[in-house]
Amino acid sequence: MAKDQPNLQGRIVIEDLELVQNMLSNREELESLNITVQPHNFMQEQPITGAKVYYLRNVIHNWNDADSKTILSQLSKAMAHDSVLILDEVVMPQLGVSWKQASMDLAMMTMLAAKERTRADFDKLLNGAGLQIREIRTYDEDYGDSLIFAELLTRVDEKFEE
Ligand SMILES: C[S@@+](CC[C@H](N)C(=O)[O-])C[C@H]1O[C@@H](n2cnc3c(N)ncnc32)[C@H](O)[C@@H]1O
Repeated sequence: MAKDQPNLQGRIVIEDLELVQNMLSNREELESLNITVQPHNFMQEQPITGAKVYYLRNVIHNWNDADSKTILSQLSKAMAHDSVLILDEVVMPQLGVSWKQASMDLAMMTMLAAKERTRADFDKLLNGAGLQIREIRTYDEDYGDSLIFAELLTRVDEKFEE
């Protein structure tokens, strides 16, 4: 993204566990693109507060609902009212899954006691972490790979502010 959009303003920070980041072979390139690599355990307090965008790709499907709620809650606590969380995940149809979707779901269950989720599953999970879905854009119909745009749950009193 930093390469394709050189005029993009702001900072990009890549967070992951330190032992994983120690395996990065392109640190110099990242530095040259002004991308910071910062160790972080996403089960713990998110150190970057009020970012415009938080982006997680293929992370939530590796975790059960309780752990996913912890990951998402740490993010919602750090988000500002104009922050956006983008989950890049498979969104399963309610009925008629493809064989690719079914095999991915089974792989998540057998390897990690986790799962692929439907829109209703994501609604419930995100709401439980103080978030709500604003929009979903599916970019791969075979797998259902989608960008789920979420924001802080609107408080009832805010809905009537004008
Ligand atoms: C399935 S991989 C997805 C990687 C990448 N986003 C992608 O789409 O290719 C899950 C990622 O979560 C990271 N991860 C696992 N546990 C973590 C934790 N507790 N805190 C931060 N990152 C973690 C892993 O190191 C790995 O990079």
